[in-house]
Amino acid sequence: MQTVKTLQMLRTALAQLRGGSGARIALVPTMGALHEGHLTLVRRARAEADHVVASIFVNPKQFGPNEDLDAYPRQLAADAAMLEAEGVALLWAPDVTAMYPPGFATNVSVAGVSEGLCGAARPGHFDGVATVVLKLFNQVAPDMAFFGEKDFQQLAVIRAMARDLDLTAPHVEAIIGVPTVREADGLAMSSRNRYLSPEERAAAAVLPRALADAAQTITDGLQPVWLAKAVVEDELQIAGFRLDYIEVVDAETLAPIEALADRPARILVAARIGGTRLIDNMAINPAV
Ligand code: PAJ
Repeated sequence: MQTVKTLQMLRTALAQLRGGSGARIALVPTMGALHEGHLTLVRRARAEADHVVASIFVNPKQFGPNEDLDAYPRQLAADAAMLEAEGVALLWAPDVTAMYPPGFATNVSVAGVSEGLCGAARPGHFDGVATVVLKLFNQVAPDMAFFGEKDFQQLAVIRAMARDLDLTAPHVEAIIGVPTVREADGLAMSSRNRYLSPEERAAAAVLPRALADAAQTITDGLQPVWLAKAVVEDELQIAGFRLDYIEVVDAETLAPIEALADRPARILVAARIGGTRLIDNMAINPAV
């Protein structure tokens, strides 16, 4: 695996990878501090493309002023070893000035799907995500790109951006969502889980359990949406969480819904325990 840190080196390495035969390239964008969730994306990408390009860039534009940009774990050597072991061909690891040279002035903003949920709690966050992901798509021009459903709203924002800005081949042909990878007790894997104290980590298992119960109860029609949400809120409060939001939405538009229609829906939650903000989401009526 080659690690490149400048755009020029990236272009040379990509040209070599593509060769004359039009080898198919998959991109897996990350911020590093890799875990099995990220590695699952890499494995999916390997299965579907000839070569996998992974990126590691802790993107300052998607962190708010009071968020964890400085504390965010950085471990490039360990991450590179993991990616190499998974058969990644090329690691794109620019520093901040390579990604945002002095004078950088462009902002990509996706209205609608960016606005509620995490967008309401983290102003500017999805602009930062859309801006860097569009740059990554232009830099790498992959045939396909892989993202986790763990960040369900992020996936919706990227799909909307790709549709609106005609990011079809040769920029990126397909955006592929991958189901959330979880710890044994159900907690969604996240680079931020390492911030949890042992007590917080134990309590955090309530989050996926409460969410799964609500998703099932709503799918089975046993409780109205408002009641299932209130139950989750209670359970989280008892476990020591401070709720940011709990919402049931249309899985495509992310518009909140009060009752199930004949369309896939999703239940999403964000909550804080100690100083750590955790998010999770699950499918409702997946059969429709
Ligand atoms: P990061 O949080 O590092 O996540 C990189 C990718 O891994 C994202 O697509 C995310 O959804 C996916 N992922 C994280 N945890 C996962 C899990 N438990 N199961 C499945 N997939 C998981 O998301 C970002 O970085 C950034 O916003 C980025 C897209 C790289 C733009 O900066």
